[in-house]
Amino acid sequence: MTIERHEQLEKLKRAGRVVAATMQAMAKAMEPGMTTRELDGIGRALLEKEGARPAPESTYGFPGATCISVSPAVAHGIPGEQVLKAGDLVNIDMSADIDGFFADTGGSFAMPPVQEKIERLCRDGKRAMWTGIKAVKAGGRLNEIGRAVQSFADKNRYTLIRNLASHGVGGALHEEPGHIPTWYEPGDRRRIHDGLVFTIEPFLSTGSLLAIEGGDPWTLFANGGHATVQYEHTLVATKRGAVVVTMA
Ligand code: CO
Ligand code: CO
Repeated sequence: MTIERHEQLEKLKRAGRVVAATMQAMAKAMEPGMTTRELDGIGRALLEKEGARPAPESTYGFPGATCISVSPAVAHGIPGEQVLKAGDLVNIDMSADIDGFFADTGGSFAMPPVQEKIERLCRDGKRAMWTGIKAVKAGGRLNEIGRAVQSFADKNRYTLIRNLASHGVGGALHEEPGHIPTWYEPGDRRRIHDGLVFTIEPFLSTGSLLAIEGGDPWTLFANGGHATVQYEHTLVATKRGAVVVTMA
């Protein structure tokens, strides 16, 4: 989607606030002994109260309102009977629309006791995402995002998952531009136009380079099982930089 009117921005921001607040509420509610289905139920109820429709379900028939991936799963985990335990690293990916305006956010949360290595990975995963967000400028190149994120990852001795990209969003969960790498692709000549709505969601890892399929049709795992986190915001590109809409 490209934002052309103030009213569109307001509607997108509303969807953004709802998904962000829902994700934070779910993260706060996580506790050992809870199943991922119960956690998903908390998210679904909050979305419903705000008149928001879970996007993975409405778009792809995903079996759940939210994607909940417990490490070594990294993405598209199906809420179910899996019981959360102390020390788990849990990714919640939250997307929904309100009146046709779609926002998408995600975050990884560690349940205490948290190993120091995981605490550092979570902190750096957020920094990697913000490094990408700060590289956004209408008129600039799309691959500046991947260049900035990859340089952050290299400098701090992390890897990036290379087969899960960021994407256009707003009018649908996934739309053009359909593949926005958070690693550097020097040959990518595309430019960011004013008002373009898209996500930035690097998957920062302690060694994995690919997300691979596992036992069900949805869940993706970090190849080699290295600890991996994802943080995601939806934003609008402007000449002055990114306006992040998925703030609680
Ligand atoms: Co997402
Ligand atoms: Co996304």
